[in-house]
Amino acid sequence: MNEFPEHLDVEAIRADFPALARTVRNGNPLIYLDSGATSQKPVQVLDAERSFYERHNGAAHRGTHLLGEEATDVYEGARAKVAAFIGADAGEVVFTKNATEAINLVAYTMQASPGDEILITEMEHHANLVPWQQLCQRTGATLRWLSVTPEGRLDLDDLDQMITGRTKLVAVTHQSNVTGTIPPVAEIARAAHDHGALVLADAAQSVPHQPVDVAALGVDFLAFSGHKMLGPYGIGVLFGRADLLEAMPPFLTGGSMIEVVRMEGSTFLPPPQRFEPGVPAVAEAAGLGAAVDYLSALGMSAVAAHEESLTAHALDALREINGVRILGPDTTKDRGGAVAFEVEGVHPHDVGQVLDELGVAVRTGHHCAWPLHRALGVQASTRATFYVYNTHAEVEALADGIRYAQRFFGARQ
Ligand SMILES: Cc1ncc(COP(=O)(O)O)c(C=O)c1O
Repeated sequence: MNEFPEHLDVEAIRADFPALARTVRNGNPLIYLDSGATSQKPVQVLDAERSFYERHNGAAHRGTHLLGEEATDVYEGARAKVAAFIGADAGEVVFTKNATEAINLVAYTMQASPGDEILITEMEHHANLVPWQQLCQRTGATLRWLSVTPEGRLDLDDLDQMITGRTKLVAVTHQSNVTGTIPPVAEIARAAHDHGALVLADAAQSVPHQPVDVAALGVDFLAFSGHKMLGPYGIGVLFGRADLLEAMPPFLTGGSMIEVVRMEGSTFLPPPQRFEPGVPAVAEAAGLGAAVDYLSALGMSAVAAHEESLTAHALDALREINGVRILGPDTTKDRGGAVAFEVEGVHPHDVGQVLDELGVAVRTGHHCAWPLHRALGVQASTRATFYVYNTHAEVEALADGIRYAQRFFGARQ
């Protein structure tokens, strides 16, 4: 295995994740290759949530009592950690429910009219596609998209024609959840800004897996979810440039986001509170803060290097299996650790079921990226995704499991 160098102390990391110690079907140890859907959680994150409830449970930004004050500190402390993690100011970090809600926040508060264009890509997760379709339906704006090459890269040949003075916003993934492709977001952002368009990056699959700095990327908005980066469900992040957030109307309204309320009407707090109505998810924020601490202690460059090593191994191992076609780039250049593939003669659901019998958890289907699958000429695929706790032995187990599925279904090998 020396050809695939180690960048993290994976055995020590695995000891922090209780779920990884369990056995699953047929008494097999769990081999969790579905972190692209949701990651497992380390004890540090579980402890942060538990300790909040045990000691500090009060409503942030509401109580005048000590617990309310402590809850506010926990919540705002988590915001500061998240902001530092992506190179933003705390005031530019809005807590949402998840990446999906973060993108909807922008899509529903944005003004557009007939003649305006929204540019997306064929590579997007439905979360960064359907809200823009809806915006265009509501406003009469036009939806345009960049296509993908057969290799699963963005086709940027006609970027110049696609981004024009009519483009209002470009929404693009920062790492595909299917092919792992990492599009040149900084380059796209420069082109968009040259034409006065805004840029939103869907970072649901990048912030958990690679160093991300919003200033270096040059994006105006960035969205991601806590549960894919070792944190809890129910909390996500919208980064928005301060001046843009300041100019945006509220999305959801109610308590905690108002300045003055009269029967005739209300005024609203400055960002980020303007976009955080209701009692906030403080325990979830505490968990997300602990997840950020955990990833920062590992170092995001080491996390990315570890995943690159696993991905290189997986691409090698899968290439050696006759009848397996990898979707997307077949080298790790500008590519993260999502490896989707089809097995000739075996339906992805059957591949997934056989792997599950062996204890290998993968995802099957279109992975909320139906247009991308169509563009790549497949209905569905099987997808393995890697994270800090995965090992090279697990990559081998995946390859062995695929071979076993081929034998089981009498497929060509
Ligand atoms: C690239 C990408 N964008 C957005 C999302 C949506 O994330 P969530 O369901 O946590 O809102 C996902 C989740 O799979 C994703 O992979």
